[in-house]
Amino acid sequence: MTKIILVLFVVCCVVQISTQQNQQVSPLTYDSRWCNNNQDITNEYRTSIYKFILQLFKSIAVRSNLNFVFSPNSIWIIVAAIAEGADSLTQQKLFQLLSLPNDPCIRQAYYQLATTRVFPSNDVNIKNTRLCLIDDGATLSPTWYDLVTKNSLLEVARVPIKNNQEAAATEIKTIMSSHVPGLNLSGNSVLLDKMDYNGLWTTAFADAVIEQAPFYNLQGEAIGAVDIMRVQRRARMGYNEKLRIKIIEFPVGSDERYRMLFGVIIGNEDLTSIVAGVDDNHVFELIESLRPSLVPINVAIPRMVITSEIDMRVILKDLAVNELWTDPAVTRYISNPPAHPTTFVQHASLVLNTTGLEYAPPEPESAYNARTGLHPILGRDFIADRPFVFGLFDAKTWTCLLASAITQPTYT
Ligand SMILES: *[C@@H]1O[C@H](CO)[C@@H](O)[C@H](O)[C@H]1NC(C)=O
Ligand SMILES: *[C@@H]1O[C@H](CO)[C@@H](O)[C@H](O)[C@H]1NC(C)=O
Repeated sequence: MTKIILVLFVVCCVVQISTQQNQQVSPLTYDSRWCNNNQDITNEYRTSIYKFILQLFKSIAVRSNLNFVFSPNSIWIIVAAIAEGADSLTQQKLFQLLSLPNDPCIRQAYYQLATTRVFPSNDVNIKNTRLCLIDDGATLSPTWYDLVTKNSLLEVARVPIKNNQEAAATEIKTIMSSHVPGLNLSGNSVLLDKMDYNGLWTTAFADAVIEQAPFYNLQGEAIGAVDIMRVQRRARMGYNEKLRIKIIEFPVGSDERYRMLFGVIIGNEDLTSIVAGVDDNHVFELIESLRPSLVPINVAIPRMVITSEIDMRVILKDLAVNELWTDPAVTRYISNPPAHPTTFVQHASLVLNTTGLEYAPPEPESAYNARTGLHPILGRDFIADRPFVFGLFDAKTWTCLLASAITQPTYT
């Protein structure tokens, strides 16, 4: 009898200890073993990410004269990594900006989704590196380090920022393999992000018909000739009447794991005002409006190579994130002395080429005059010979991996 009571007592104690630990979980010190993430949070995650990336998109669009490419998802992840180690005031502010919940387990589930969207395969060459370079004299908080590395938010490496700025600067340029706008080594760390994409379309563009064709500016004036890739193929299309934009979808890769969506203006609307007016609901409505055409659509898109280096410190300042760059105390839970990042740069590059895994199947002559099965506003073609937008998405969650606006396509 006493034995049983003793056993019961021990069991109660253990249970009590474990619930106590559970209650002690705080944002910086949570232990993922306590998280039991089995509900599907894809929708909440997507909404949270889009609220943030549309703000980024608008700021970058204005500052880059509507000619840029960037990776929204990876900026979201890096800011989340910094938020996890920020002092509580800044942390709350950043969680709000990223629409991240206070429940660390839900955040962890978001991170799990966000960091598993990109992986290279034979037919889609896509590489993303998120890096925090920290001064070799700084001592990292093991809790923060564990959190960001175990969740694959950031890689952390050492450079001699304080003792050898020149060596540090060289290393940064090598990692980014490009010019680093806004390089500032007055703090103890820098944040670097690199995203390079070159993928094969599931359905190729016709190789034989690359031709030069005029490209027009926002005012409708021809600004020069570009290489135009053409294809006649069935595709999903959609539109948003309020935004005056129509979109077309091209799957990428053998398993159609990624989708590229291109958008052009319907009529004579100014792309600048459309970019300024877009919100997350518009994006979801557009994606939901996609319907397959019953017949081939005439597609023409410029062949392009585009590279952007964006000073994200400037962009985040537009979004009222100031203290991270100016107040060392804000990042004192990341390292000692505080991480105090003074540079945050993203390099993104992308190639749009004709190459794909197979060609569009031949269609009977009659198909080209038959009903498209789509809303009449969409017409029977998709011609990107004036400013357009496009994005690369992962087909499972519709996370935006690359977003771009183009007013001056180039292929060099
Ligand atoms: C570098 O960053 C620090 C901290 O934000 C700032 O005070 C300083 O003016 C910056 N230096 C340059 C050259 O921009
Ligand atoms: C585009 O594809 C062609 C082959 O179809 C290839 O020769 C060329 O190098 C590619 N361009 C880029 C920038 O990858």
